[in-house]
Amino acid sequence: MKVSHDVITRPFDFVRDRAELLAIISEAKGPMLDLLGAAVSDGHALILVAELGGHVVGWTALRTSYRTDTGWSPDGNTADFVAGDNAYLEYLEVALLMRGRGVATRLLDATERGALAAGRNRLWLHTSEANADAQRLYEREGWKHVDTIHPTWKDQRATRVYAKDLTPDGPAPRPTSSARGGERGSPQP
Ligand SMILES: CC(C)(COP(=O)(O)OP(=O)(O)OC[C@H]1O[C@@H](n2cnc3c(N)ncnc32)[C@H](O)[C@@H]1OP(=O)(O)O)[C@@H](O)C(=O)NCCC(=O)NCCS
Repeated sequence: MKVSHDVITRPFDFVRDRAELLAIISEAKGPMLDLLGAAVSDGHALILVAELGGHVVGWTALRTSYRTDTGWSPDGNTADFVAGDNAYLEYLEVALLMRGRGVATRLLDATERGALAAGRNRLWLHTSEANADAQRLYEREGWKHVDTIHPTWKDQRATRVYAKDLTPDGPAPRPTSSARGGERGSPQP
């Protein structure tokens, strides 16, 4: 079943979407989502949802500014990922039964447009070395695997750093000091 054209992407609406999104990503993530919501309210993050038939089927969260009071640890050089024209893709997740239908691809496209609108031209993310599905998606969408780290916040498990330059014909992205050093970003699934 091909559904990507029926999927719409839009900004997360805290009142309307919170319960439905938590049903997809787990109730335990409520406090994290509330912290992210505070960052969105202050213009420091962007949350998008994918909607199909009136239901939330996926989401992304992009950090555009560094702050310690909304779920990011102050250790390491985390701020590099969001300094200047950089932004950090902290979450990308699609409901289990909706995977393989282009939902994440739509979310990534919309997130890139949102990043550009916020003046961010270079995106970063972490993903597990074991997450082959995510790696295939990112590489197909033009992300570059720029480093592999073993961060303490992931129990030193191998974790890939990906980057994407959004400027047309821009230079190949280069790892920041935090990418090389393996300091804490934010955990990805
Ligand atoms: C990784 C993840 C976000 C991918 O989401 P997704 O919606 O399944 O991704 P897409 O459908 O856009 O792309 C995946 C596959 O579907 C295919 N596809 C894309 N558009 C399609 C469409 N319209 N119809 C059918 N298939 C389509 C793609 O070709 C791709 O195929 P591949 O398996 O050869 O790579 C999802 O598996 C997930 O939520 N995983 C758990 C959380 C996670 O790991 N997040 C990433 C952390 S870094």
